[in-house]
Amino acid sequence: MVEKWNSADKFNREASQWDENPQRRAVALGVAQAIIAAVKPVKTMRALEFGCGTGLVSLEIAQFVKTLSAIDTSTEMLAVLQAKISRSGITNIETSCTNLSASTESALNEQQFELIYSSMTLHHIDDTAAFLNNVSTLLSLGGIVAITDLDLEDGLFHDDPLEHVHHGFDRKELAALLNGAGLQVTSFETIYTFNKTNRAGIIASYPVFLVTATKNKPVTQE
Ligand SMILES: C[S@@+](CC[C@H](N)C(=O)[O-])C[C@H]1O[C@@H](n2cnc3c(N)ncnc32)[C@H](O)[C@@H]1O
Repeated sequence: MVEKWNSADKFNREASQWDENPQRRAVALGVAQAIIAAVKPVKTMRALEFGCGTGLVSLEIAQFVKTLSAIDTSTEMLAVLQAKISRSGITNIETSCTNLSASTESALNEQQFELIYSSMTLHHIDDTAAFLNNVSTLLSLGGIVAITDLDLEDGLFHDDPLEHVHHGFDRKELAALLNGAGLQVTSFETIYTFNKTNRAGIIASYPVFLVTATKNKPVTQE
């Protein structure tokens, strides 16, 4: 099947087995710990994760913030997360099937967040600049965005050659896009390295960055 950008079908198919991958769980734990260390979240913060998947990151972060809006475009990923929330008794996470690429005029409209974060999702979104602008619109002034994703890679990280993805990000180019969305970069760090057999059958290293940025001016709509 030819996959398109942001194929909810693909993630719907993968949702029930998503948490079975030990490397995926290890990355998510590392991401959560890195975000907590870099951002130092506090109990007054309203937080949002875009591309939350089954909540591997957000279930670690929820205890440190006031409220957490977990959004994704895959209903099946969200169903797995919702089941975990129900089992755990966590009361401050709200899930919603929302595509921030399309618009911020949605269930999230009028809401503001002090923290917006994401793990391994940005490379699945076609128009990075427009998306970051939408993210910035939802962030309160002084709010923090924390994004983890792949550094520029050889194009062989994903197993399906037909899947539409960015092949990681150049840090300078991403910093410029964040800046264009009114988000000033405060740090870039390498927080994890995937060592995996890639699509060509070669064991290769794929570093993952965490970038944090602060909203220092209101978003101007073009
Ligand atoms: C590689 S998975 C990462 C999931 C989770 N963050 C984790 O680390 O396990 C990417 C997730 O982003 C979601 N996604 C893709 N495009 C999206 C969009 N435009 N808005 C929200 N979620 C999106 C997918 O449905 C999927 O759950």
